[in-house]
Amino acid sequence: MSATDPRDRMIVALDLPSIQEAEALIERLGDSVTFYKIGMELVYSGGLDLVRQLSSRGKKVFLDLKLHDIPNTVEKATSRVADLGATFLTVHAFPQTMKAAALGRGKSSLKLLAVTVMTSYDDSDLAEAGYAMGVRDLVARRAGQAKEIGMDGLILSPEEVGAMRTLLGPEMNLVTPGIRPLGAFKGDQKRVMTPGEAIRAGADYLVIGRPITGADQPKAAADAIVDEIRAAIG
Ligand code: C5P
Repeated sequence: MSATDPRDRMIVALDLPSIQEAEALIERLGDSVTFYKIGMELVYSGGLDLVRQLSSRGKKVFLDLKLHDIPNTVEKATSRVADLGATFLTVHAFPQTMKAAALGRGKSSLKLLAVTVMTSYDDSDLAEAGYAMGVRDLVARRAGQAKEIGMDGLILSPEEVGAMRTLLGPEMNLVTPGIRPLGAFKGDQKRVMTPGEAIRAGADYLVIGRPITGADQPKAAADAIVDEIRAAIG
């Protein structure tokens, strides 16, 4: 389900090596950004305190921890993340893991996003790991299971958004990285869409890192992307 303010549909990935650098960027971005993603790199350099701080300042936080462990551990860990005030948490889309996370978030407002198959995997990686299914079939199977178990959404590449929206219906939150404004440096992202294209394809939230964090004028870059999202919503 999409947020109504276009700013709330842009999630800025704080892929930075230190809390000091993350705080300086957050300060520069000010009101232009309402939603941040904190991943493992920053968490392992003290980023959990930043989750609390951002939440207490009215910002939303997507904690990208990609949990996967035995059910008891996933349940307890999810419950602690809910206490931190995060809005989104990622878990791997294994049925046991997703069920445990659903129990752990209890009645909190934490939303759970499933990672179906990592986009760095292709069919040969799955075969090497012992899977009989290829990527496309496994993504579809896990997406269906995620919905059935009560996950709130999926992380997926922009190219998968259209098909998944058709398969899963309007309720699931579809969250996509791999976004590049026109003319932006692609870096290591191979299959990209512009913010407008991804929104029109059915994405609810866009995760955007370097086009903002690496810009000379990050606030202006963020504002331009929000304008593009607004225009695509129409
Ligand atoms: O800098 P960039 O816009 O490419 O950052 C995208 C963010 O989304 C990064 O935090 C990256 O780890 C994450 N991500 C991704 N592709 C995936 C899953 C997550 O780029 N398949």
